[in-house]
Amino acid sequence: MEDRYNLNFLEEELHKPTVFINENLLSIDYVPERLPHRENELREISRHFKTQIERPGEVSRRLIISGPVGSGKTSITKKFGQMLFRSALKRNIDLHYIHINCRTQKSNYMVLLAIAHELNKDIPNRGYSAEEVLKAIISFIETNDKILFIVLDELDYFVKRNGADLLYDLTRAFDSQLNPTQRISLVGVARSANFMQKLDESTKSALSASIMKLDSYTSNQLNEILQSRISQSFVEGAVSHEAIKLAADVASERGDARHALELIWYAGKYADDEMSSMVFPDHIRRAKATINPSLRHETLKSLSSHESITLLAIVRSLKYSRNAYVETGSVESNYQLICEELGERARGHTSLWTFIKELERHGIIMTKLSGKGIKGNTTLINLPDLPVTVLEKELLKKWFGGK
Ligand SMILES: Nc1ncnc2c1ncn2[C@@H]1O[C@H](COP(=O)(O)OP(=O)(O)O)[C@@H](O)[C@H]1O
Ligand SMILES: [Mg+2]
Repeated sequence: MEDRYNLNFLEEELHKPTVFINENLLSIDYVPERLPHRENELREISRHFKTQIERPGEVSRRLIISGPVGSGKTSITKKFGQMLFRSALKRNIDLHYIHINCRTQKSNYMVLLAIAHELNKDIPNRGYSAEEVLKAIISFIETNDKILFIVLDELDYFVKRNGADLLYDLTRAFDSQLNPTQRISLVGVARSANFMQKLDESTKSALSASIMKLDSYTSNQLNEILQSRISQSFVEGAVSHEAIKLAADVASERGDARHALELIWYAGKYADDEMSSMVFPDHIRRAKATINPSLRHETLKSLSSHESITLLAIVRSLKYSRNAYVETGSVESNYQLICEELGERARGHTSLWTFIKELERHGIIMTKLSGKGIKGNTTLINLPDLPVTVLEKELLKKWFGGK
């Protein structure tokens, strides 16, 4: 009798049939064992950096990897970082592989501090300048005979924001000595290598980086990538070939492997929801309707609260105006209203302007100056290709949680 009232919901959930073996293997941070269609690139990177192992400290090398969203930039650098670390370990070379996401570590100081922390070098979070942190890192790796392999991910965004001092400092760190040991090799990861053209000559020559360009994946390539990821994360045979093909086709519009994987994951969830033991094309269609590929959760998450409020204000202005562009004036009044709603102190005009510029650097909004027809010279703001209602919902989650 009692059992009936003691329903164990956890046990019930645990016993539900599912199409997944391990859905965590689809998460964005997981680097899979195999990266189909990136083998040549991995080989090329290996060639580029193998001197770090053959003759550690003799030369340092720099490489810029560019490619569109979801083309595997982060994955191949992580994969290579692991390889390099292991090969170094085997040969008793004290090499550290450090991967920095420069959207999260937004300033020179924060990047350097993150490097110091990765090295377990104790540096107080406050009271040191960027130069002092850099000096501490340099003397630490010299004293302990260490070699660094640093990946600066999302570097184009970072350079737009902070300029190129960090790159210059990291590449020139050892140049004051005669025949210095070269202890820092760098990989910069960017959506496009255009930012390189804007670097000043001295940084460019200090960097003397090779560039490697990744193309977006084709539908066939995505199909193979999906199959290899599905074989790890789904029950064998649980995803129909048609479903895989559809997901690959949908994601090939942008050649974005992340989108393909998200489609498959959501589709698997929908299949589980209706207790279907297989994932069919219809589940992919529903997943497609749920996901917005241009909405990057990491990007939204990396915004400060006032940057998010500013974005929400832009979204609301666009929603009510139904124009492609809105003026800053309308954004400003919405910004103040939302601050009031959320009980936040509204920042002044100048700060709002810096929030807008920051959103532009993230590539979330675009701005242009008004032409003739609108009085004065005002800035017009536009969201490239996001449905405003979806974005509004995402942003509100930040304050009110929920799905
Ligand atoms: N060749 C590949 N094989 C398997 N999975 C891949 C491959 N390329 C990318 N992925 C997966 O797709 C997602 C996006 O890749 P990522 O490296 O983050 O792209 P980018 O950094 O270029 O935006 C990640 O989850 C990654 O694991
Ligand atoms: Mg990436």
